[in-house]
Amino acid sequence: MLLPKVQNALNQQVQIEANASQKYLAMACWCDANALEGCARFFYRHSDEERMHMLKLVHYINDAGGTVSIPAVELPHSEYQNIRELFEIAYTHEQKVSAAIDNLIELCITEKDKQTANFLQWYLNEQHEEEALYRTLIDRIKLIGIQDRGLYFIDREVDEVNAKKAAAEAAAGK
Ligand code: FEO
Repeated sequence: MLLPKVQNALNQQVQIEANASQKYLAMACWCDANALEGCARFFYRHSDEERMHMLKLVHYINDAGGTVSIPAVELPHSEYQNIRELFEIAYTHEQKVSAAIDNLIELCITEKDKQTANFLQWYLNEQHEEEALYRTLIDRIKLIGIQDRGLYFIDREVDEVNAKKAAAEAAAGK
């Protein structure tokens, strides 16, 4: 049985993941509207991933005999100055999610809920990968530059990274 404090914190994380899914969906739409199809594919997929993160939490709470609160989602930001700003906002968001996961694990340790702390390790690893991915992509965007044909090359680069990630996940049965 989940402790009320832990259950509340897990439900807050459900909301964070749901909001992330909407944020990335809005980013995908912005990319689509700005002829950046590779970036759009990246964010459509990332939006789906965040929904999967949310569902994983929902199932965990239910399986542990807890009560899930399905949250209302925030209206996502939908205007960006350029693709670099968009990626930087996504990266900042991922850093906030990582901090939320850290706090959640700390709470579980304080409350001696080893099972939930163990379950959350998966999120810790996932956040580590996501932050590293965004750092790499932002570095490449800076190198390529967003002027002239830069956008074309950025779009190809992001599409390639996305395709590799999708293939790796398919191979791992994720
Ligand atoms: Fe599930 Fe990237 O936060």
